Amino acid sequence: MCGIVGYAGRQAAAPIIIDGLRRLEYRGYDSAGVAVHDGRGIEVVRALGKLRALNDAVAKRPLAGSLGIGHTRWATHGRPSEENAHPHVAGSVAVVHNGIIENHAALRRELIADGVKFSSETDTEIIAHLVDRSLKGGAKGLFEAVRASLQLVTGAYAIAVLSADEPGTIVAARHGSPLVLGFGENEMLCGSDISALLAHTRDMVFLEDGDVVELRAPVGDVGPSARIQTVTGIDVERPRKRIDWSPTMAERGGFKHFMLKEIHEQPDAIAATLRGRIDLENGDVHGAEIGLDGDAARAVRRVYIIACGTSYHAALIGRYWIEALARVPTVVELGSEIANRPAVFFEDDLVIAVSQSGETFDTLAGVKAAKAAGARILAVANVLDSAIPRLAHGELYTRAGPEIGVASTKCFTAQLTALLLVSIFLGRQRGALDAEAGRKLLQGLCEVPGHINELLGDQDYVRTIANSLVDATDVLFLGRGYNYPIALEGALKLKEISYAHAEGYAAGEMKHGPIALIDAQLPVVVVAPKDASYDKTLSNVQEVRAREGRVIALATKGDEAMHDLAEHIVWLPEAPEHVLPLLTVVPLQLLAYYVASRKGHDVDQPRNLAKTVTVE
Ligand code: BG6
Repeated sequence: MCGIVGYAGRQAAAPIIIDGLRRLEYRGYDSAGVAVHDGRGIEVVRALGKLRALNDAVAKRPLAGSLGIGHTRWATHGRPSEENAHPHVAGSVAVVHNGIIENHAALRRELIADGVKFSSETDTEIIAHLVDRSLKGGAKGLFEAVRASLQLVTGAYAIAVLSADEPGTIVAARHGSPLVLGFGENEMLCGSDISALLAHTRDMVFLEDGDVVELRAPVGDVGPSARIQTVTGIDVERPRKRIDWSPTMAERGGFKHFMLKEIHEQPDAIAATLRGRIDLENGDVHGAEIGLDGDAARAVRRVYIIACGTSYHAALIGRYWIEALARVPTVVELGSEIANRPAVFFEDDLVIAVSQSGETFDTLAGVKAAKAAGARILAVANVLDSAIPRLAHGELYTRAGPEIGVASTKCFTAQLTALLLVSIFLGRQRGALDAEAGRKLLQGLCEVPGHINELLGDQDYVRTIANSLVDATDVLFLGRGYNYPIALEGALKLKEISYAHAEGYAAGEMKHGPIALIDAQLPVVVVAPKDASYDKTLSNVQEVRAREGRVIALATKGDEAMHDLAEHIVWLPEAPEHVLPLLTVVPLQLLAYYVASRKGHDVDQPRNLAKTVTVE
């Protein structure tokens, strides 16, 4: 997830673009750049690091001109560097891009065979070369060249393009990534979301997938204009909308907190993490990023997962999947505990490090110990080129985009998505899963974004339950099988942001201790979808009710037995058992959010916590 901005007007473009990028920095901040047309040609300035680095670079090399494009980056293809920063230039063309070009490898090969020299590792540079080639091939202007080039591209994109030969034109397009137009006083703007444009106008047009727009800067008495077409050149109209949000609200997409926004971004994060990695027809997962070929996958004797915090809970579910779907014995260890004992690693171990930041000291230390023992390392991380992936043999990135809220939400479900892909890959390569089983599992995973949208639709009820928990000082979370780590995660979310004492427990373990806590005051949240462990969980709920415990149940729609026992119930959609953890966690994220928000806590930056802990 990156941020792009375009400006076509009468004012100096560079400061307006950089200000717009600053409002999009929550989308990515590892490098940035701007290209401005000064009437004679295009000047490009790029810088590694946060936006202020670009600001300093532009201060040293002032950019004249009232037409330009800019970008703030969240690396997906090509590590953070000045060469990989946008805009990317080819011939007379400069391009900024947010999204992922799925067929970038094939297009790169084709362009190299055509004699093209690449100067970056990015998928984006391909678009610049395609447009440049189309212009040299006789396209009638930038608008046509961009449309023709986009017909060769598959994947998700929002782009803005300049040509040195058209000093008054920006061509922008979207497919799968957001792009908004802003109609200002004698100026036109485009951006990844409204927060970049609000300082200039409240009149906006939201482009739809497949739209390509030609923005024309004002010339003399002729005002600015925008012409929208499909990639095949058919004119389309899009309605103008008047926006009444403040810029800060806009950065949070209208949500009160980044955490709530990120909970709503889970369907997109999961879809992005799946994109270009599965072969539904053959029930397979592409293994290139995992860094294991068939022989290496079959040679794995044990899987060893290292993680901390919320990532540790994802790892626990990963173990269930790897053992169930690939039949490989799997160990899960807290990063901070590996340092406290002489952990044993083998050369034929596959060690998976799960970390949103890729920088957590405890997990990194565990990876170093495993690597020193000759084990093979796979990193499942969200930040590209961070410390742990840099040490690993394989890198499977979750594509959740930057996560601003300290309490992890969208990265958790994106990690689950990545770990399920690894489990299916190992299962298929080792013959534990046939094509039909693989297809079913992947089909179930592809339907998860839809199910989550359904769950997000019923928040009012979760809010009511949260109101009943605001004064609770202790809460017990219970679950069996896949649901046990979800109970742990639900408890952690409530602890992290509401500061209530919450404990997650394996439901089957309750009788060996925590049942002593149960009385009419203690709320007990039970994760109880209709799965293989349902009957046993139902009897645990009866044990709680027998001691007057207050039951809040997550249950599959139509489950009358649970309905009769529970004080409150959150209905879950019917879904294949193996994907349930990606669904059951969502109401628990919302529950914690509404309790903490009701208490007036700083939900995005809760006390005593940090997003990334790089010390022991
Ligand atoms: C904590 C964060 O500091 O680290 C948690 O507050 C996170 O949200 C944990 O789960 C582990 O971090 P990471 O980046 O290794 O997943």
